[in-house]
Amino acid sequence: MHRCIIAITALCILTLALPALAATATPKDMLLGPPASMKASKDLVRFSHERHEAAKVECVTCHHTWDGTGSIQSCAVSGCHDQPGKKDATAFYSAFHAKSATNSCLGCHKAEAKNGRPAPVSCKDCHAK
Ligand code: HEC
Ligand code: HEC
Ligand code: HEC
Repeated sequence: MHRCIIAITALCILTLALPALAATATPKDMLLGPPASMKASKDLVRFSHERHEAAKVECVTCHHTWDGTGSIQSCAVSGCHDQPGKKDATAFYSAFHAKSATNSCLGCHKAEAKNGRPAPVSCKDCHAK
């Protein structure tokens, strides 16, 4: 009887913990491209969570709307970085290239490269075949 209760308790804890674990696991190397509503004009971009974790970049630096527990949304969900073009500060393009933003790929890389870190800043280094 006791063992049964312990087993059930363990199962409950596991079930409760699983969604949190699934939400925070970082995907392996990713290939980033524009959302279905936009056409890619450049080669897709390889992205490594592992390299950025090693460089001590916090999850919330990039996933800036994440509360630390729930699921992580993709950048181009409706109402976020879903605007085409380059002018809008929240445009899809700006999310990755805004030079004044410390959490856009290019904004952070420019500062890091100045300090001699191997953070790519040229188009073809990120948009590589
Ligand atoms: C630090 C990495 C990085 C650098 C450097 C970079 N980009 Fe990007 N770019 C991205 C990411 C990430 C995306 C979003 C994924 C995608 O759409 O390919 C993107 C998307 C784009 C898009 C919209 C999607 C498309 O294919 O049309 C354009 C246009 C673009 N980049 C042009 C450029 C140009 C031009 C340069 C050089 C001035 C450049 N990028 C430099 C990372 C970078
Ligand atoms: C340097 C920026 C950066 C950092 C740091 C970062 N991520 Fe990401 N992550 C991304 C990008 C870019 C994507 C792709 C988003 C998209 O598809 O629009 C992504 C995607 C994800 C996804 C998939 C989301 C989906 O669309 O299904 C998860 C989960 C995730 N990251 C978790 C994490 C966790 C947990 C950490 C911290 C340990 C972390 N990330 C750190 C940039 C980052
Ligand atoms: C807040 C800072 C920061 C942001 C934001 C950031 N990076 Fe980086 N990135 C770094 C640093 C630091 C390095 C150098 C890591 C090292 O020392 O190995 C790096 C290295 C890289 C490299 C070269 C290493 C490799 O994985 O091949 C690529 C490619 C890269 N980043 C892509 C991206 C893309 C794409 C984005 C946006 C989705 C992004 N980064 C956002 C800090 C950042």
